[in-house]
Amino acid sequence: MNDNINFDRRKLLGSALIAAAAQALPAGSSAAEPRSHAEDKAPGAKRSVMGLVKPKMDKIRFGIIGVGERGGSLTKTLLPVEGAEITAICDIYAPALETSVAVVEKATGKRPAAISGGVEAFKGLIDRHDVDAVIIATPWEWHARMALYSIAAGKETFVEVPAATTIEDCWALVEAAEAKQVNCMMMENCCYGRSELMVLNMVRAGVFGELTHGEGAYIHNLRYKLKDFIGEGTWRAEWYTKRRANSYPTHGLGPIAQYMNINRGDRFDFLVSTSSPARSWGAYAEREFPADSPRRKQHFVMADMNTSIIQTVQGRSIMVQHDVSTPRPYSRHNLIQGVKGTFAGYPDRIAIDKGGNEFEEWTTDLTEYKNKYDSVLWKNLEKEMRASPDAHGGMDFVMLWRIVYCLRNGLPLDQNVYDGAAWSAPFDLSEQSVRDRSRPKDFPDFTRGQWKSAPPLTIET
Ligand SMILES: NC(=O)c1ccc[n+]([C@@H]2O[C@H](COP(=O)([O-])OP(=O)(O)OC[C@H]3O[C@@H](n4cnc5c(N)ncnc54)[C@H](O)[C@@H]3O)[C@@H](O)[C@H]2O)c1
Repeated sequence: MNDNINFDRRKLLGSALIAAAAQALPAGSSAAEPRSHAEDKAPGAKRSVMGLVKPKMDKIRFGIIGVGERGGSLTKTLLPVEGAEITAICDIYAPALETSVAVVEKATGKRPAAISGGVEAFKGLIDRHDVDAVIIATPWEWHARMALYSIAAGKETFVEVPAATTIEDCWALVEAAEAKQVNCMMMENCCYGRSELMVLNMVRAGVFGELTHGEGAYIHNLRYKLKDFIGEGTWRAEWYTKRRANSYPTHGLGPIAQYMNINRGDRFDFLVSTSSPARSWGAYAEREFPADSPRRKQHFVMADMNTSIIQTVQGRSIMVQHDVSTPRPYSRHNLIQGVKGTFAGYPDRIAIDKGGNEFEEWTTDLTEYKNKYDSVLWKNLEKEMRASPDAHGGMDFVMLWRIVYCLRNGLPLDQNVYDGAAWSAPFDLSEQSVRDRSRPKDFPDFTRGQWKSAPPLTIET
């Protein structure tokens, strides 16, 4: 892990506006000393966790670390999932901790252990005997560190996006999960969207023919978060002053990777990346904050638009974009194309080769496709979903339900540590490429050759 977070910390501590975030910052790096992984790259060098199956668990007792906006929401969504119990919660911010603890107590009649104190208090949660699985929903700088501690303790580990911010930490997660033979899943909830699962069904049914190209994005105007006094804006904006990269690649990339069976027959080979000027943050700060505001003094380097292109080993291309500051509508693109047709999201539309020579038009009435390819998971879970408050219209519930279902039934999880590492890697690789005049940067083969023989994803969509 590079040390710009330590640098961030010095700066952050000086800022009155974001002082509340200071206690949330990590003391140091999470990964071991940088080292070569060359010795690990031979197939079978370590015991792979591809398709890892654990003994069936009757009930999964979760501990949740970080119950701000996301963790608090996941807590509520998880409560009605059959077979899940929340036994412990940790947060360094007492009001957030108490809110979520009270939510669980009210719903279940049982008060989960409330763990607070210093920034290392999370270890107390992970070490508990009544915690089988750990959910990590803290700021990015904590993800890999907390996940590594959780894996080392032998706990099934679920970490928010991105799983790690450096290639070193991606490797560290892979190696730790292999060493302990536990699951480490980055919870890419967008893979469980209703559209995404329908498209996955269509891909598997061959509707688009052989896939050639995909496009994903995280385009989400988050400028308003600069006004946060607690919560995401306090720490996320700091990253935008340090990293000129696609810092949030996984929402757009995860579903495309599943359509393309990445790490299961294909894998990401290399990436090129380019960044636009970084202007919108500053323009917003100038418009919204007085001249003496610390926000006006921040120098944002995160491009308004970062565009990366990934080439896979099988020769497919994927465009991934990141823009969290421009005034424009939300989009994850969610575009997949093959020799027989194309699907695109935002809004959902489809163009299929009808066999003639006419130009293709987008069809926005997808009834025909929904009737045939709608997600069985979504249809079957409709009733339970209504009992579960979900910040994202259902996909968080489907994800959590599926995690619990897989653990209870001795099935491999839909996303493994190799996926989390590969989908998070563009954070670091895009920064490297931008810095190097968009020259290609290689993805490590986190699977160490297992991608060649790993069977396609068998998610019950
Ligand atoms: N998958 C999604 O759709 C989605 C949506 C939003 C956020 N996220 C991710 O969730 C994570 C959290 O985002 P958020 O919006 O909830 O941020 P937040 O700032 O609202 O919440 C983070 C919480 O972590 C706590 N925390 C910080 N350091 C801690 C430590 N050392 N020990 C214990 N608690 C600590 C903070 O006090 C805070 O309550 C981020 O990684 C973000 O990228 C994912």
